[in-house]
Amino acid sequence: MHPFQKFRLECERLTQQHLPGARLEVPPKEIGADLAFPCFAHAKELRQSPADIAREKVKPIVGEIMFSPLIRKVESSGPYINFYANWEMLGKLIVNDILKQKEYGKGKRKNKTVMIEYSSPNTNKPLHVGHLRNDSIGMAVSNVLDYCGYDAIRTAIINDRGIHICKSMYAYRQWGNNKKPDKKPDHFVGDFYVLFEQKLKENPDLEQRALELLRKWELGDKKTRTLWKHMSMWVLRGMKETYKRFGSKFDFWTFESDIYDKAKPIIEEGMRKRVFLKNEKGDTVAKLEPELPNKVVLRADGTSIYITQDLVLAKMRFEKYKLDKLLYVVASEQNLHFQQLFKIFALLGCSFSRKCHHLSYGLVNLPTGRMKTREGTVVDADELIAEVAGLAAAEISKREKSLPKKETAARAEAIALAAIKYYLLKPEPVKDILFDPQRSIDFEGDTGPYLQYTYARARSILRKSKKKPRLGKGHYQDKEIAVVKKLGQFPEVIGKCSAELKPHFLANYLFELATMFNEFYHTTQVIGSEREQELLALTKAFTDVLGTGLRLLGIAPLEKM
Ligand code: ARG
Repeated sequence: MHPFQKFRLECERLTQQHLPGARLEVPPKEIGADLAFPCFAHAKELRQSPADIAREKVKPIVGEIMFSPLIRKVESSGPYINFYANWEMLGKLIVNDILKQKEYGKGKRKNKTVMIEYSSPNTNKPLHVGHLRNDSIGMAVSNVLDYCGYDAIRTAIINDRGIHICKSMYAYRQWGNNKKPDKKPDHFVGDFYVLFEQKLKENPDLEQRALELLRKWELGDKKTRTLWKHMSMWVLRGMKETYKRFGSKFDFWTFESDIYDKAKPIIEEGMRKRVFLKNEKGDTVAKLEPELPNKVVLRADGTSIYITQDLVLAKMRFEKYKLDKLLYVVASEQNLHFQQLFKIFALLGCSFSRKCHHLSYGLVNLPTGRMKTREGTVVDADELIAEVAGLAAAEISKREKSLPKKETAARAEAIALAAIKYYLLKPEPVKDILFDPQRSIDFEGDTGPYLQYTYARARSILRKSKKKPRLGKGHYQDKEIAVVKKLGQFPEVIGKCSAELKPHFLANYLFELATMFNEFYHTTQVIGSEREQELLALTKAFTDVLGTGLRLLGIAPLEKM
């Protein structure tokens, strides 16, 4: 049990002796108390005003807290009973716990498996900035779940078939002159997709040409398949490079081309159960009205559409991996898709229908407006990483003129990735983002680099001191208590992140923690202080928690910056 939990339990035990069932809350910061009990719920039963209840019930509790060393003070304030912790003692316990456990707040293995599907690109063009947000969320959520004791399986579905793929293929066949990639291969292929869209504006017939190619592909036409293989390979080779650079990791990938034609049994099951019907055109349609729009799940000619693969895939995943949960990290543009998909599972009576969750996230805009490949204004992932790395390198050179080139580049890379990931993780997933590259690398702002910088500074204190961290008496001053309190919240924050699947809680927490540490650091001399060892222990605990938190967000803590 974490120290703050011990404190909570003790306060709760005392309160419940006089107010059965009472649950304590963490009051807003301005109150200054650590826990509070609002007496409103008991007013009716006791026929007293909440303020009277608070005033009366606090009395016996006051008498008892002297046997509870973790509680410093209890008092009534209007309708509330407020508890104050003995932070000298609690603080020591927290710092001790952090220094003793290698991974503070890490959960026991739960024997529950969660699959996280994220990124899931199409193989007709390179990754864009939306994928960077997707990957940041996917990785952070996987890491946090794993830390909390779940077995996390990281996967992606590679959408490598369909009309959009055939468009790039068509353009290459017509205008590519059998050229081999002369640039990063996913960009090479992406250029043909853009070219197709351009030519389509002049010649609407091209849509038909692409469809013909798709039909040929579905029939297994040799030439078409060979071209497709080559182009898919190019794209994936390019994407793997980007994933490696960005740190996106997967346990395995599934390819749509391997599963798209395996829908027969589930389509038949749907027909049998009358969840699916044939419409007048002969398409197979899932009947979801009036709650949701009906949904075509298979075309009359037997060809699959986007949702067909998802019907097959979910079943496969649950059967093969005995999942307790399946998370889809996919942009909010597909909210309806997933509502329909999950509804279909429910109607089919699939036992896993309640175990599916769409982790939806908003758009990433850049100051120039919404990006779309078709308009040619897409913000490419590689370009964005390079741009931010350039900005970071410039900032480093300003600060440390004599740093060798190689070291500057390595640091710039780590800082750029931190900048991007943090910027994309900080807002709640549902919110849209306006990505501002310059702001993202501000060493003094609410940014990834600021966290890395604070980490590096704290680490340098530990390096410079000749003494060893030791707990000491725990006579913490105000600013130190603020840090310690915040440190003590780490396990709860991680728990909340994993329960709500929202990594922004962790991002914001780390920023507050770092800010508090900086306030302490700016006003307190650690090296040379009489309490040097105790303050070193606090500093070490801080770097441990911040380091762990950053790693969970997929951000590298830096020793030097
Ligand atoms: N490749 C799709 C896209 O780019 C996303 C796939 C999402 N995953 C899924 N199981 N449907 O829009």
